[in-house]
Amino acid sequence: MSTPTLPPTVAAHVPTELLIDGVWRPAASGRRFEVADPATTQVLFEVADAGPEDALAALTAADSAREEWRAVSPRARAELLRAVFEEMRAHAEDLAALVTAEGGKPLAESRAEVAYAADYVRWYSEQAVRLDGLARRAPAGGAHQLVLRRPVGPALLITPWNFPIAMIARKMAPALAAGCPVIVKPAQLAPLTTAYVAEMVRAELEARGLPAGVLGILPSSSAGALTTPLLADPRLRKLSFTGSTEVGRILLRSAAQSVLRTSMELGGNAPFLVFDDADIPAAVEGALAAKMRNSGQTCVAANRFLVHESVAAEFTDGLTAAFDRLVMGHGATPGTTAGPLIEAAAVERVAAAVAAAVDGGARVRSGGHRPRGAGYFYAPTVLENVSPDDLVVTEEVFGPVAPVMTFATEGEAVALANGTEFGLVAYAYTRDVGRVMRLVESVETGMLGINRGMVSDASAPFGGVKSSGLGREGGEAGIEEYLETVYVAL
Ligand code: SIN
Repeated sequence: MSTPTLPPTVAAHVPTELLIDGVWRPAASGRRFEVADPATTQVLFEVADAGPEDALAALTAADSAREEWRAVSPRARAELLRAVFEEMRAHAEDLAALVTAEGGKPLAESRAEVAYAADYVRWYSEQAVRLDGLARRAPAGGAHQLVLRRPVGPALLITPWNFPIAMIARKMAPALAAGCPVIVKPAQLAPLTTAYVAEMVRAELEARGLPAGVLGILPSSSAGALTTPLLADPRLRKLSFTGSTEVGRILLRSAAQSVLRTSMELGGNAPFLVFDDADIPAAVEGALAAKMRNSGQTCVAANRFLVHESVAAEFTDGLTAAFDRLVMGHGATPGTTAGPLIEAAAVERVAAAVAAAVDGGARVRSGGHRPRGAGYFYAPTVLENVSPDDLVVTEEVFGPVAPVMTFATEGEAVALANGTEFGLVAYAYTRDVGRVMRLVESVETGMLGINRGMVSDASAPFGGVKSSGLGREGGEAGIEEYLETVYVAL
């Protein structure tokens, strides 16, 4: 199999089988599926395609490892994660090459993702030894109360293709730190980096004599083939999912049957507010970061630019110039600053949303077309004169499109920002601290970036309100998702 975009040293070490009970093995069905480079459409690898039988085998292994893993000392779990962090750091270039090959990101962005992912592993190696409980005298007297934490148990982690290493790190590290065995279903479109990291974990588990069933990796072309048997099995105790709100709702319905603990990191429709007192060059720079990371394919991507009418021309001109300077290309090609979208359907969807906006009266200031040649590219696009009803602002566009709308008052800006079922993140540029505090109170969001186009940080709670999800990942909160509370009246 040719691997056009990967250094041979990396290609030679990518596991392409399923990891069950510490052994990389083919799917029970013998089936495989192809993983392609979105910048060239060339197939990189054929990967084992897990089905129901494999899912149950991984759950049996996880369940058998459960008691032993729970009994492992917090310090030993911390040291395992610290060793994985060191491995990730030592092989950061290989991991970045893989992220670019399977997802299309420019290498600089892939390096940043690897560092971000490693940070989650380091953070939870530090948190593993800080799982607090509580002991106190009951207020009425006559008894003492002990509040203890224990691992939830085997967890299914379903990760997306847009951050193939950061998302497994963000889920797996706190789960392992808490003492839960995990089964990971990486995205069909980008399972390779997950497998590469999983091998690091497997090797460290083996070297330390820790239970092999603690980590299962099940790439699959059919999420349902895994979730149907797993969510119905009482041995599974936890589901953590990152992906669309639509799929999240389906999973929540299935999880309801067994009243399964769930964490849902779902869709967004982030507003990016620019007030009349903002530092406009800084806002343009922040807008570029908030919009163009992974070519707009992030759930925290700014989806709607709401700009005060008095600074709209200056902001839009600046953003247009910044977008015009972006260089589209293969992520591994030096100088590339905008990679491809993940698949042909994504390009179709983005093109249709832009066409509908233009039909409705929007003006294209930059981009607005698909370039010729191979790969799933769409040009970075700035639209002005966009209406609040246009698909590019009502839907999460998940592509490199920046629609600019104007507002006259702060109240109008907040109403526009909140006019969505989503509430993952919002961004605001202003120099007025009083306004910042009003926005903190009034914008319906789980995360708020003030004079910053990026909020993500391993040590902070990532997550949303409204239809953007349930629970938090990262920070102190992230490990809580994998712990249950036991109260003892003594
Ligand atoms: C996501 O898009 O799902 C995650 C983005 C991030 O962690 O910054």
